[in-house]
Amino acid sequence: MDPKIVTIEQHILERERLHPEATGTFSNLLYDIALAGKIIAREIRRAGLGNILGEMGVINVQGEKQMKLDVFANEVFIRMNSYTGRVGVMATEEMETLMNIVPENPTMAQGKYVLIFDPIDGSSNIASNVSVGTIFSIYRRKTPIGSPGTLEDCLQPGRDMAAAGYIIYGSSTMMVYTAGRTVHGFTLEPSLGEFLLSHPNIRIPEPPRYGSTNAAYARCWSPGVQRYHRYLHGMETESPAVPLSSRYVGSLVADFHRNLLQGGVFYYPAHHAPGQPPQAKLRLLYEAAPLGLIAAAAGGYASDGTRDILDVVPTELHQRTALFVGNRAMVEKAEAYIARYG
Ligand code: AHG
Ligand code: MN
Ligand code: MN
Repeated sequence: MDPKIVTIEQHILERERLHPEATGTFSNLLYDIALAGKIIAREIRRAGLGNILGEMGVINVQGEKQMKLDVFANEVFIRMNSYTGRVGVMATEEMETLMNIVPENPTMAQGKYVLIFDPIDGSSNIASNVSVGTIFSIYRRKTPIGSPGTLEDCLQPGRDMAAAGYIIYGSSTMMVYTAGRTVHGFTLEPSLGEFLLSHPNIRIPEPPRYGSTNAAYARCWSPGVQRYHRYLHGMETESPAVPLSSRYVGSLVADFHRNLLQGGVFYYPAHHAPGQPPQAKLRLLYEAAPLGLIAAAAGGYASDGTRDILDVVPTELHQRTALFVGNRAMVEKAEAYIARYG
């Protein structure tokens, strides 16, 4: 039989039925995010045309200056989620402090979910027409519903996430999400404007094929990470019989997505300089934890090099972390090299 045609909306509602206690708020929030993704995708598709069409007033009818895409995407997420009564507090990579969401309608309670997102991941790649993405995570708030959202609501370990996902704006637009147990991928059919289920039950395949890192930083890595890199690429005696091939886009979402579908490990280790504390780049809340939840639900694993990324309790919103994510055995190998050689 031909495969079923399932929209993301149908899929979300179907899963909701498995939870008789569900109120529908969570399903609607996921659907809001899918819509925000479609709006951002549309804008990205026109990214290179700004100078050509913008001057004719086609894009900027209101006379607004063209916005940078990460500011645009950030605003889309905020406009989409600040009035629905579903979200009580938001945090975004683009803003210094959290956003407490007060519903315009005073009879509406303040939402019960926490929405954390990186509106455009890999934004330096936009100028050269390379894939970028949006990463999001959803937590249940800790503070009582109806009271203002606080930092305590946002600083929860990844383990407590209700859902996480990303939208990748690649040769097609896809939304991939998990509510913790299974990972599903949907491809946007542009003429319908619908995300259709294209990748049900994603499992990260074995054996891993790719190692993904910015190897230009190898000189800054700790000895354990340098040896791990050599191990992956066939330069240690215990290296895999077939060494990993190398792929690095420089958009975490794109690198993660490829490795999720084809098998591989992405690593962005901390940089070490003499006499200084190690410096990491990727953000725990906006990038590492959500992708860690997806990896784990697909049978993989994410670590900061010493522990499961989902166990890390954040102490600040924009906290940075080293990240190793992909096939479980390969990430555990990174932990082993770091434990052994530092
Ligand atoms: P963002 O665009 O949200 O700031 O994230 C960029 C990140 C991530 O997407 C990518 O993996 C990494 O930066 C690339 O960094 P390098 O250029 O140092 O390799
Ligand atoms: Mn990012
Ligand atoms: Mn970003």
